Amino acid sequence: MANLAVEVAGVTLQNPIIPASGVFGYGREYERLFPLSKLGGIATKGTTGEPRPGNPSPRIAEAPAGMLNSVGLQNPGIDVFIERELPNLLKKGTVILANIAGSSIEECVMIAEKLDSTAVHMIELNISCPNVKKGGAAFGVHCESAESITAAVRKATKKPLVVKLSPNVTSIAEIARAVESAGADAVSLINTLLGMRINIETGRPILRNNVGGMSGPAVFPLAVRMVWQTAQAVSIPIIGMGGVSSGADAIEIMMAGASAVQVGAAIFTDPYAPIRIISEMDSWLNAHNIANVTDIIGSVIPW
Ligand code: SIN
Repeated sequence: MANLAVEVAGVTLQNPIIPASGVFGYGREYERLFPLSKLGGIATKGTTGEPRPGNPSPRIAEAPAGMLNSVGLQNPGIDVFIERELPNLLKKGTVILANIAGSSIEECVMIAEKLDSTAVHMIELNISCPNVKKGGAAFGVHCESAESITAAVRKATKKPLVVKLSPNVTSIAEIARAVESAGADAVSLINTLLGMRINIETGRPILRNNVGGMSGPAVFPLAVRMVWQTAQAVSIPIIGMGGVSSGADAIEIMMAGASAVQVGAAIFTDPYAPIRIISEMDSWLNAHNIANVTDIIGSVIPW
């Protein structure tokens, strides 16, 4: 078996595969299927200061080779997360990334301060949700606001800080540089791409929110491109995501420069996808006589 261990922001993951925020809840539904200890980590659903019911339905739409969501950060709020979900997650023997989101810098700071006194391993600051009216991607599409919120959350916590970036920008590399300069320990990318579907019989958008975030295999080449561009712009580690569905995809996005990989939409069609991907990565590494998965990080040889 190859050595699959990787390090992100000083935290060792036994393998690079992490179910992405929003597709895995708090792991309760999946622990009946496989031991969560097999995962490299778990990114939890975006947590806000207060409970949020999310956006009205329909909030999921199908697309060729992908899906759109406009969930709107439905979650029980930081206090319930810390009291009810986090203690259970911390017993699972894997790295926990608490994904946090807020409508204001103050809200994100307050959440980070509360998490700072817990045993959570990492904080993933979501500045890229496309489905909320305040906060979310509004922070992540300009260098100045991305830098300000990162700097404020950086001051609020000593936990390793990962900032989750939006692909709905002209240059994701510039945003990555801004959050690196503000103290981010790592970046994760890409969040979803803003999309829209219309029911041509009713003339209405399928999503009640009109627009939503596109994910799934269709976005994979965009994710690889953005990870590659970001890897050339920053020296902090990158967690790559966006349409990763197989071990080969995970290897590819790591060759582009990712140190770890989040798996999102693939879990909706195959709940075992993270476990399958770990095993497929191992087989590929063995077939290529590569002893350590870290050897492939950023190993692409550009023309
Ligand atoms: C959502 O809850 O709307 C999705 C979260 C995100 O895209 O960051």
